[in-house]
Amino acid sequence: MWQSLVFFLATILVVSQGSELGLSHQIHLLRPKSGSGGAIVPNVSCLSWRVAVEAHNIIGWSTVPKECEGYVGHYMLGHQYRKDSKVVANEALLYAQSLNLTGDGKDVWIFDIDETTLSNLPYYAEHGFGAEPYNSTLFNAWVLKGTQPALPESLNLYKKLLSLGIKVIFITGRGESQRNVTTTNLKNVGYHTWEKLILKGSAYSGTTAVVYKSSERRNLVKKGYRIVGNIGDQWSDLLGHHVGNRTFKLPDPMYYIS
Ligand SMILES: *[C@@H]1O[C@H](CO)[C@@H](O)[C@H](O)[C@H]1NC(C)=O
Ligand SMILES: *[C@@H]1O[C@H](CO)[C@@H](O)[C@H](O)[C@H]1NC(C)=O
Ligand SMILES: *[C@@H]1O[C@H](CO)[C@@H](O)[C@H](O)[C@H]1NC(C)=O
Ligand SMILES: *[C@@H]1O[C@H](CO)[C@@H](O)[C@H](O)[C@H]1NC(C)=O
Ligand SMILES: *[C@@H]1O[C@H](CO)[C@@H](O)[C@H](O)[C@H]1NC(C)=O
Ligand SMILES: [Mg+2]
Repeated sequence: MWQSLVFFLATILVVSQGSELGLSHQIHLLRPKSGSGGAIVPNVSCLSWRVAVEAHNIIGWSTVPKECEGYVGHYMLGHQYRKDSKVVANEALLYAQSLNLTGDGKDVWIFDIDETTLSNLPYYAEHGFGAEPYNSTLFNAWVLKGTQPALPESLNLYKKLLSLGIKVIFITGRGESQRNVTTTNLKNVGYHTWEKLILKGSAYSGTTAVVYKSSERRNLVKKGYRIVGNIGDQWSDLLGHHVGNRTFKLPDPMYYIS
């Protein structure tokens, strides 16, 4: 009885906030099917779980705890994900603006792609927000559609970095076979130019993202690039060697890649 009252009140709150704020925060319009933001989860604090995931205290996990599916869904589709992303992008920009750049075209910023540059939220909204086990067949079919929206905070950062004279290099765990669709998708949503788009070649098959990405960053440094910044949603984008002068971790409570 009281649960339905809470749910009812929460629904009113969501609806009234939505109309007041015009839902301008939404990357994707689907809303979770049920739940009241994770407040009534009996033995798990999903907020604590998420914070521990973001801080890299909980590592190597394969799926979002089933109890937290509703919580993660509300987080991802609601205002908080966008606010958290904005703080990260703003800090990155403040840092970039503080740099004394040489203007020789060798200052670069590394961007990861999935959940950094482009968002898979429309896919995950239909697959339990990470509570369902990863299905590579279904996920690859989604990627091949080439219809991923930009993460707006990252797109804004990307544009500002370019205007400061910093070049952008994408390093993604996507394979070479997805180069075309990735290029088209990036351009369609506003990422019009880049220095390099590095995809995971077959030589790296079976290696972790940390190994692959570190190795590609080392190659860049050998070619004379200075990695002034690096942004990604996974710790594996930001750990290892040649990580860059500063790293920026975007939120992602939906999956973990080592
Ligand atoms: C919550 O409690 C249930 C029942 O005791 C248990 O099966 C489940 O694993 C618990 N969840 C977590 C994340 O501890
Ligand atoms: C940039 O140059 C200014 C003036 O020379 C100096 O005060 C500042 O510390 C430098 N900043 C960095 C990040 O090197
Ligand atoms: C992935 O999804 C497809 C299509 O629904 C299904 O046939 C396949 O069994 C799934 N694979 C796994 C590993 O669950
Ligand atoms: C990728 O796109 C280029 C140019 O648009 C085309 O020539 C090439 O055949 C495409 N490759 C694949 C694998 O689709
Ligand atoms: C950036 O990192 C490189 C490599 O670690 C270092 O040599 C350089 O001094 C750093 N630059 C700044 C501005 O901290
Ligand atoms: Mg990513």
